[in-house]
Amino acid sequence: MKSIQVENHGARNEISRHDDAILDNVHVIFKGNDNRIIFERVCLNNVVIEIHGSDNEYQFVEDCCVCNFRIQSRANNGAERTVDRTRLLVGRAVQISEGSAMFGADDTCIEIHHATTVVKANFFAVERETSIVVGERCLFSWNIDLRTSDWHSVFDMESGQRINPPKSVVLGPRVWIGSDVRILKGVTIGEGSVVGVGSIVTKDVPANCAAAGNPARVIRHNVRWNHDSWVKGADAEVVELTADPSV
Ligand SMILES: CC(C)(COP(=O)(O)OP(=O)(O)OC[C@H]1O[C@@H](n2cnc3c(N)ncnc32)[C@H](O)[C@@H]1OP(=O)(O)O)[C@@H](O)C(=O)NCCC(=O)NCCS
Repeated sequence: MKSIQVENHGARNEISRHDDAILDNVHVIFKGNDNRIIFERVCLNNVVIEIHGSDNEYQFVEDCCVCNFRIQSRANNGAERTVDRTRLLVGRAVQISEGSAMFGADDTCIEIHHATTVVKANFFAVERETSIVVGERCLFSWNIDLRTSDWHSVFDMESGQRINPPKSVVLGPRVWIGSDVRILKGVTIGEGSVVGVGSIVTKDVPANCAAAGNPARVIRHNVRWNHDSWVKGADAEVVELTADPSV
């Protein structure tokens, strides 16, 4: 079952892996030097990691499970540029089914903290010194994009000033992001909040709110959500299962 196929075109690149890691293909390319990947006791399946640059460090902490999640450090604007000093943290017991992490500039960082679940999301840290930090026990549905930059600059014609600078994105603990959501540069979402399906989030969302729409606005204050409510409501009574079909 164990498998990692490495193409190493640099020097002093390192993969450290715990003996108990469960790996099924993982396929790493190093084009640069002094890069480090740490797999603790994790479960990985078909992950592809392409590091084009130097001094990048990607860490997968104990008990995380990562499937079809492509990780790239490189900038692609015409000619390929390398990217240095990027950091990825996939925390303890994080589960990621599908998506990608793209580091498009030097000194960018993506952190997904412990027990967060991602069905399908793309994380783009695309301009220098920006980060995406996701707190613990968050839930991401499918088709979600988070980005720290618009990728292209927009300028005021009179002053010549850039009007869309990049900014980091921060999600507090226990945030639930519904399906088909876009979270744009500079957004902070407070602890325990919910973002409704199809929303485009351009401004901060306070803690314990539901926000929705395009652009997303707070639609409810003072809410909490339940991780497993689709199985059983928060206040549902426990039903004993029985082998007798007539019961
Ligand atoms: C955010 C959410 C939880 C709110 O549910 P709710 O509290 O029952 O809210 P309601 O449906 O009563 O809507 C309240 C108001 O917000 C609006 N609204 C709700 N969700 C919206 C959305 N996604 N986009 C735009 N407006 C929305 C409603 O039209 C309503 O507006 P009104 O007061 O003008 O009539 C729910 O709408 C949602 O989007 N859930 C995420 C579903 C999902 O993606 N699941 C994937 C599985 S992880």
